[in-house]
Parts: sequence; structure tokens; C-alpha cells
Amino acid sequence: MVRGVRGRPRDADALGQAWSAARRRGRRWGACAVILVLLGGPAQAAERPGGPVADAGQCVSCHAAIQPALVAAWRGSGHGSGGASCMDCHGAVHDGGVKARHDQTCSGCHGGTQAPVAHSYATSKHGVIVKLEAPHWDWTRPLRSANYRAPGCAYCHLHTAEHDTRRRIVPHATEPASDVAQRARDAMNAVCYDCHAPRYVGRLGEGGERMLGIARMKQREAHSLVEATRDEHTDVELAQALAVLARMGRHVQNVGLGVGHQSPDYQWWHGQAALDGDLLRIKGEVSRLRRIREMAAAGREADAVGMDAHPPASNPLTSSTSQ
Ligand code: HEC
Ligand code: HEC
Ligand code: HEC
Ligand code: HEC
Ligand code: HEC
Repeated sequence: MVRGVRGRPRDADALGQAWSAARRRGRRWGACAVILVLLGGPAQAAERPGGPVADAGQCVSCHAAIQPALVAAWRGSGHGSGGASCMDCHGAVHDGGVKARHDQTCSGCHGGTQAPVAHSYATSKHGVIVKLEAPHWDWTRPLRSANYRAPGCAYCHLHTAEHDTRRRIVPHATEPASDVAQRARDAMNAVCYDCHAPRYVGRLGEGGERMLGIARMKQREAHSLVEATRDEHTDVELAQALAVLARMGRHVQNVGLGVGHQSPDYQWWHGQAALDGDLLRIKGEVSRLRRIREMAAAGREADAVGMDAHPPASNPLTSSTSQ
């Protein structure tokens, strides 16, 4: 009850007076009733529905009255802005949060178990432990370290029932060194401290930042190699290089997920190694285009001095093998 009163001094005054008046009359429960009426909020009126709820709008409207902060946090997340309703995670029946805590609830919607988001977690030690031990855990318990040995999706992203899933993610457009980015990392690290020493987590964080930095460097290098040929080549000629460049974005994301989800597979195999291959392919493609251009130029010179021209270079993109 105190929670509902906090920050509303006028109500608190009225509340105090009602309480002491009622106590003077020795009617404690009567005082409670008076307080409920005075607060007048639907919070006290709301009762949990007896059966399944018909639609997610009802969850929102009833809970907005009981837990406005929770609903506001959800609204501020990717889920609240259209991604996932209360019902998508919790189902239609009050089950104490059991369904929502399970990994399947999350991965089912985040592309399935083979998509990078869930697969990067599945290939981490956490993912393996949860997979092996989940059937033996008591999922009615809140997500706290004493209740679970290793973290699943919701443990990290909805820790302490914090429904703003964005709060612990470094926003994509921010500088890694900015305060905003640091706040998000600190909030996520606090989850790790449930089970790991801060020094260990700090070292992991630094290593992760370096690794992401290197991944982005490879992407930037490839990007400038392609850009440097823009004057000489059309988009059609550059089609292959541009396709590889676009793919590099996904491989950088893999490194990010590998670092976030602690998956060596995604850091290295689906990340750095894939980027190394991409960079080599782009270098090869750019120098192939340069050779063709030089041959064409040499051909024109030969024409100009009346010698036999080289055979015209065929369109490399339609005739060459892919890669
Ligand atoms: C009904 C589909 C759905 C379900 C279920 C779902 N998500 Fe999401 N989630 C989304 C969409 C859509 C977004 C926003 C777009 C994006 O970033 O992919 C999102 C975004 C996120 C983000 C990025 C931060 C943000 O708020 O934008 C995280 C982290 C996340 N979800 C974790 C989870 C976890 C953990 C669970 C399970 C407890 C879960 N999601 C369940 C669809 C879903
Ligand atoms: C992305 C999945 C997801 C969505 C969407 C979601 N929840 Fe939750 N919610 C969870 C999980 C997981 C827990 C359990 C957290 C824990 O054990 O600490 C939880 C816990 C709760 C709790 C218990 C809070 C507490 O302090 O113990 C309430 C109440 C709740 N959710 C209501 C809602 C409402 C209302 C909505 C829609 C506005 C909603 N949730 C949307 C996943 C979700
Ligand atoms: C008419 C009001 C009302 C509606 C509609 C409603 N709830 Fe609740 N819900 C409650 C009340 C009251 C509680 C208990 C709150 C407390 O203990 O502080 C509760 C508790 C919860 C909890 C905490 C865990 C539990 O089971 O006790 C979750 C999660 C939750 N509701 C999710 C939902 C979802 C999802 C929907 C829609 C499918 C929904 N609620 C619809 C009133 C409602
Ligand atoms: C050990 C904690 C942990 C677990 C378990 C975990 N995540 Fe994550 N997740 C992270 C971290 C850390 C990041 C990277 C955050 C960042 O980039 O700032 C991340 C990133 C994400 C993102 C990308 C958000 C974005 O917009 O870049 C999504 C979506 C996501 N996780 C969903 C999930 C799902 C679904 C699961 C379960 C299948 C899961 N996570 C399991 C910690 C965890
Ligand atoms: C609920 C407890 C728990 C939480 C929270 C947790 N972990 Fe773990 N973590 C474990 C357990 C248990 C292992 C497996 C330890 C082992 O036996 O090697 C593990 C393993 C790891 C490993 C692999 C270590 C190795 O030797 O291969 C890394 C890396 C890791 N955690 C990082 C993190 C990070 C980063 C976070 C926060 C985003 C986090 N953990 C949150 C329990 C947790």
C-alpha cells in the first residue's frame, strides 16, 4: 500500500489522518477500507481474472492500473512497440510466470532455434546447461541466482521482471565509448555478477569490445575497397562485391551475438572467420575488375596505334564463376 502512496503527499496526508482517526476508534480493518476508498485507484479494486483472458488489450489495461511502471517499461521496449504482447510471452492464463521464463517462449519468435539469436545462445555454456538441466528445475520460482544455476534468455533480458528489454542492450547507433552505451553494459553486467566475479566479467567485456572492433575494421576495409572503385565501375559490375559487403554486416552481427551470448562459435566461426573470407573475396573481386579495366585500356591504346586489339573483355559478372 505504501508503494501506491509514495510521491503523492496530499494523499499521504489524508491517508495518515484517516489511519490515525480509525486507530483511535480501534478499527484497524475499517481503516484499511477507508484508505482503499481514499486512494481510489483501481489498483486495489483489480482482481486477477479467474480464467483465460480473451485478448492482450485486457492484460495491458488491468495491469497498467496495478503496475504502471512495468507496463511503461514494456511499452518502451521493442516488445511494447509492436514486437510482443503480454500474452505472447505469458499466455492467456495466470501461471505465475512459468511459460514466460522458458527459452522456447523467446526463441519461437526470435527466428526459431536455428536463427543466430537463439543459436548463438544454444552454442554457449549457458545454453548447453539450461538445455540439459531445465527439465529438473522449478520454473515457478522468480529468476534469481539462488533459483537457477545458469541463465536462460529471460534471466538476462528480463532480470528482476524488468520489462524494458532495451535497457541492457547497447543501442545500435551509439558510440561504444558513450555514457549511454556504458549504462547499458553496466546494467547487463550486473546480471552476470549474480554468478561471476566482476573482474572476470570486466575482462570478458573488454575482450568482447576488442573483438567487435576488429570485426568492424574488416567491414570498413572492405567498404573502402569497394568505394574506391566507384568511379570506374557501375553497380552492375560491382554486384558481386556489393553482395559480399552486405553479407559482412550479418557476420559482424554474428560477432556481436557471439560476444553478447558468450558463444565461441559465433565469435569465431560465424564471425571472424566468415569476415576474413569475405574480405579476401572482395579483394579478389576488386583486383579482377582492375585487371579487366587495364586490359580494356590497353586494348583501346592498341586500337589507337593501329595494332590488333585484345579481344574485348567479356562481362566478368555473367561469365565468371561465382564466389
Ligand atoms: C511474439 C514475438 C516475440 C516474443 C515471444 C519475444 N520477442 Fe523479443 N522481440 C521481438 C521483436 C519483434 C523485437 C523488436 C525487433 C528486434 O529487435 O528484433 C524484439 C526485441 C527483443 C530484444 C531487443 C531489445 C528490444 O526491446 O528491442 C531482446 C533483448 C528480446 N527481444 C528478448 C526477448 C526475450 C528474452 C524473450 C522471451 C522472454 C522474447 N524476446 C520474446 C519479438 C518477440
Ligand atoms: C518478452 C516476454 C514478456 C512480455 C512481452 C511480457 N512479460 Fe511479463 N514477465 C516475463 C518474464 C520472463 C517474467 C518473469 C520474471 C522473473 O521471474 O523475474 C515476467 C514477469 C511478470 C510479472 C511478475 C512481476 C514480478 O514482479 O514478479 C508481471 C506482473 C508481468 N510479467 C506482467 C506482464 C504484463 C502485464 C505484460 C504486458 C504489458 C508483460 N508482462 C509482458 C516476460 C514477459
Ligand atoms: C482484471 C485484471 C487483470 C487482468 C485482465 C490480467 N491480470 Fe495479471 N494480474 C492481476 C492481478 C491483480 C495480479 C496479482 C498482482 C500482485 O500480486 O501484485 C496479476 C498477476 C499477474 C502476473 C504475476 C504472476 C502471477 O501469475 O501471479 C502476471 C505475469 C500477469 N498477471 C500477467 C497477465 C497477463 C499476461 C494478462 C493477459 C493475458 C493478465 N495478467 C491479465 C490482474 C489482472
Ligand atoms: C548470459 C546472458 C544472456 C542470455 C542467456 C541471452 N542473452 Fe541475449 N544478449 C545478451 C547480451 C549481453 C547481448 C548483447 C547486448 C548488446 O549488444 O549490447 C544480447 C543480445 C541479444 C539480442 C540482440 C539485441 C540487439 O538489438 O542487438 C537479442 C534479440 C537477444 N539477445 C535475445 C536473446 C534470446 C532470444 C535468448 C535466448 C535464446 C538470449 N538472448 C539469451 C545476454 C544474454
Ligand atoms: C545464474 C548464473 C549465471 C549467470 C547470471 C551468468 N552465468 Fe555465465 N556461467 C554460469 C555457469 C554455471 C557457467 C558454466 C561454468 C562451467 O562449469 O564452466 C557459466 C559459464 C560462462 C562462460 C564460459 C566460461 C568457460 O569456461 O567457457 C562465460 C564466458 C560466461 N559464463 C559469461 C557470462 C556473462 C558475460 C554473463 C552475463 C551476461 C553470465 N555469464 C551470466 C552461470 C551464470
